[in-house]
Parts: sequence; C-alpha cells; structure tokens
Amino acid sequence: MNRRAIVAANWKMNGSLALVNSMVSELNNVTLNENVEVVVCPSFPYLAAFSLASANANLAEAFSLGAQNLNEHAKGAFTGEISTSMLQEVGVSYVILGHSERRSIYNESSSLVAHKVKTALDAGLKPILCIGESEDERVAEKTETVLAAQLQPVIDEIGIERFTDVVIAYEPVWAIGTGKTASPEMAQATHQFIREFIAKVDENVAVKLPLLYGGSVNATNCEELFAQADIDGGLIGGASLKADEFKVICSAAKG
Ligand code: PGA
Repeated sequence: MNRRAIVAANWKMNGSLALVNSMVSELNNVTLNENVEVVVCPSFPYLAAFSLASANANLAEAFSLGAQNLNEHAKGAFTGEISTSMLQEVGVSYVILGHSERRSIYNESSSLVAHKVKTALDAGLKPILCIGESEDERVAEKTETVLAAQLQPVIDEIGIERFTDVVIAYEPVWAIGTGKTASPEMAQATHQFIREFIAKVDENVAVKLPLLYGGSVNATNCEELFAQADIDGGLIGGASLKADEFKVICSAAKG
C-alpha cells in the first residue's frame, strides 16, 4: 500500500527571519512526488512569520508548519511555556514531541511525552513522536526494549486508534547531528520492528502509520534510506537549514 510520506525539518535552536523568508521562496519551487508532505518546524518566534510568508507566497498545500514542543496544559501559570491554542492560532498543524534532546537535556519522561501527545491530539494537532536508542543501548542490544518502553506509555495513554493521527520518527540518538547515519538495512530492520510492534496491537493502524527516519539524513544518503520498505520519509536536522540540500531531500521522498 502507498502510505503518505513526510519530510519534516527540525530547525532546533537555529534559524532567523532571513532563513524563514529565503526557505519559503526556495520551497515554492521544489517538486514533490505524489502523496508527500513537507513540514517545517522552526523555533517558536518564527512560526507566525513562516505562516505569513507561506500565505504571501501561496505555498502549496503539501507544505505545513510544525512546532518543536508544546506544554501539556491548556493555559495558565506556566512561565515560558507554549500551548496548543497559541500554536494553532499562528497556523501550526504538527508538533515534534519526545525528541531525544527534550528527553535527555530536559528530562522529559516517556509518560510526560505521552501526556503531550494526548494534549496535541485533543487539540487537533498532529504529533511527530520521536523515539530512539542511545549508542550504549544499541551496543547492549537493548534497542527493541528501549523503543517498546517509549511507545507503550503513548499507546496506553491515547489508545491505538488515535495513532491514525500520529507520525512516528525513529531517530537513533547516536546518529543525531553526528554524521553517523544508520545503514539503510539497520534503519529498515528497526522500522520493521516498530511497525510490527504497533501491528501486534492493531494491524490496520500499523499499515497506515508514517514512520520517519532521522539522524544525519542528507542529500547524499536520503534516496537509499527512503527506498526502504518501512521508511516513509525523514526528520531532518542540520540538512534542513540549507535550502539546496533540503530541497533534494524533499524531492527524494516517495509516498
Ligand atoms: P540531524 O538531526 O539531521 O542534524 O542529525 C535530526 C534530528 O535531531 O531531528
């Protein structure tokens, strides 16, 4: 079956208004394959500007805006935090949740990530749920146990049916920002494990679930990664900040 493919740009704490404007005009002339969606996730201060620039440039419907995090509460005394309604008001439709940098640097537990996924879905935002193992866990052959432990709390919190609105990004922590990409075979084997894990709960949901690979994806390795049966696009960090490279990656995705 043809699943939709997604290429998501995670700008992390990088970028500027100048990058917002130049990226929107560059993306306006990228050619996408059928059934491919591109989601750009700049930092909070640039979301509104990205929305406005996309509207002014008449950017195609295949391009969406995503945030990199949200707060699990609807509103209130949470200084420095951002709610779902604020994100939606500026045109956000996706949100990256559970990124390994949030898990490791800001101590976000899998249960907090699960709450955030529920908050996003309840508001009508589509979560890009990130999971992945560290290098030590990979070496100790604990990858599958770790991924299962990151997925199960989300399944328990939202129920498997709601995974139809979730995108999963598998990002081996040792491949993020390091230039060490998982080989296409290794990435495929892990993606297959994730899909089978979901299929054990609900086969129909698993078949339709977009599974993105992330970790040092670039213009050179994207084609081979995206050719794998269970890889439905990518979550792109460093290479998403360079329009020329990001455009190659977007065009390589196939739905
Ligand atoms: P990278 O980051 O492409 O720079 O490795 C990916 C990510 O962290 O989402």
